[in-house]
Amino acid sequence: MLSVSNLSVQFGKRILFDDVNTSFNNGNCYGIIGANGSGKSTFLKILAGKQDPTSGYVHLESGKRMSVLEQNHNIYDDKNVLDTVIIGNKPLYDVKIEMDNLYADYNDENADKIGVLQQQFEEMDGWNAESSAAALLSNLGISENLHYTLMKDVDAKLKVRILLAQSLFGNPDVLIMDEPTNDLDYETILWLENFLANFDNCIIVVSHDRHFLDSVCTHISDIDFNKISHYSGNYTFWYESSQLALRQRTQQNKKAEEKKKELQEFIARFSANVAKSKQATSRKKMIDKLNIEEIKPSSRRYPAIIFERDRVAGDQILNIENLSYSLDENKLFDKIDINIAKGDKVVIFSKDSRATTAFYEIINSSENKYTGKFNWGITTSQSYLPIDNHEFFNKDLSLVEWLREWATTEEEREEVYLRGFLGKMVFSGEEALKKCDVLSGGEKVRCMLSRMMMFRANVLMLDEPTNHLDLESITAFNNSLSKFKGTVLFTTHDHQFAQSIANRVVELTPNGVIDRFMKFDEYMQDDKIKELRNKMYDN
Ligand SMILES: Nc1ncnc2c1ncn2[C@@H]1O[C@H](COP(=O)(O)OP(=O)(O)O)[C@@H](O)[C@H]1O
Ligand SMILES: [Mg+2]
Repeated sequence: MLSVSNLSVQFGKRILFDDVNTSFNNGNCYGIIGANGSGKSTFLKILAGKQDPTSGYVHLESGKRMSVLEQNHNIYDDKNVLDTVIIGNKPLYDVKIEMDNLYADYNDENADKIGVLQQQFEEMDGWNAESSAAALLSNLGISENLHYTLMKDVDAKLKVRILLAQSLFGNPDVLIMDEPTNDLDYETILWLENFLANFDNCIIVVSHDRHFLDSVCTHISDIDFNKISHYSGNYTFWYESSQLALRQRTQQNKKAEEKKKELQEFIARFSANVAKSKQATSRKKMIDKLNIEEIKPSSRRYPAIIFERDRVAGDQILNIENLSYSLDENKLFDKIDINIAKGDKVVIFSKDSRATTAFYEIINSSENKYTGKFNWGITTSQSYLPIDNHEFFNKDLSLVEWLREWATTEEEREEVYLRGFLGKMVFSGEEALKKCDVLSGGEKVRCMLSRMMMFRANVLMLDEPTNHLDLESITAFNNSLSKFKGTVLFTTHDHQFAQSIANRVVELTPNGVIDRFMKFDEYMQDDKIKELRNKMYDN
């Protein structure tokens, strides 16, 4: 369908791709993964013809059409919503515009041209274009009264969905998307996962969203060592199998047959899980015929995120009574009563992210404009990862010195001790001597996590912890929170984080709290709760 030959890409001295030969086939969905800066976005731009490689070619089978999810949200500002969607099929849109222009200037000579164009339009199923564009839009929750609104007058959140509809419009043969779930809400992401899982053509997508990758991918394409390698299966399968391969490599004395048996059992277990999923058939076949020699250990370095506790907390963790908070006359949450007990792992949720952030700021005593009260249990110790960490880094300190600022004992002040925590977050050697004010967003979060690990608290609070982190860090973080025996309060847009860690959902609304002991998906899919949620946000 789409092939790449002898592709090399270099920026100055930096080589991103070196003589890559590969192809992307119909019916498959390829999830492109790779470290930050490994060249994922560059690769997609080259596939889409938006950027030239240093050398080599990209070849799309003749007669096939490629579509790319637009990243720039403003380039269609002067078009209306419906036209923006139809532009997704450029050849069709061009014929439509030419016809419209000729009609506007109708004469005998034009009539013949119009006849020819009409036939082309017919062959492209053009007469159904508006109705299928409208159907896509309404599936994405864009109501009909917006269809003729100019894009520049549309709310930014809805724009993302309209551009999504544009990329899906007209059933492209190859669909290219760079981080499509960014800025989308839970419902829209679920809709997209479903749509793409049932989309029969070729998809090539970059994403950091593991739930999304697991739902849609038939292959994982790993960018590493300036090459790209495809592996059958979804992200979890790729992760688990490469971890298994890594473990086996270190087990020198285990017999080859034993290792082979272990891998086969792993594949059988995984296939059984896949068979239960909605998009099972094609993916199950793919995994069943997988050759175990294909699984290679990953060369990635996963951070070692390990939360230990100085002491185990008693039963009483946090009691909140009648807590209310408003911002500029807007009630963000009102009359919240909750009692958090030992072992609760709570996803704190709200349609307005300012509500959840204010909640953490209040219970961490950084915000005092609230009414009501909260009490921490006397045996608790807290550590908090705020969404905005910039004020922690306005200092002229190396990372070791930065971390030492929070040391409380002589042992903790020792360089080896501090370097231990930084090393766990993959800052080793020279890296640990970098100045803290030059760090990237992801590096800052990694520093904050080193600090949290050092605190050894029994209650962790995390406001959008996966922001800026790469897949490796998110996966390691997720695993460590699942294992953590203390209490966790967290807010996240990462579906898998929420689903796999929380045993309780607390939703903060302008009309009180909804508090349920259940898994996140169960909560979001429950019809009674849906109804209740709609009511609670009504003013
Ligand atoms: N036009 C360019 N000129 C120079 N360097 C670039 C250019 N485009 C990207 N890069 C660099 O190439 C690397 C890969 O970038 P990108 O493809 O955006 O990575 P990813 O999407 O995997 O995070 C980065 O180090 C980036 O700074
Ligand atoms: Mg990118």
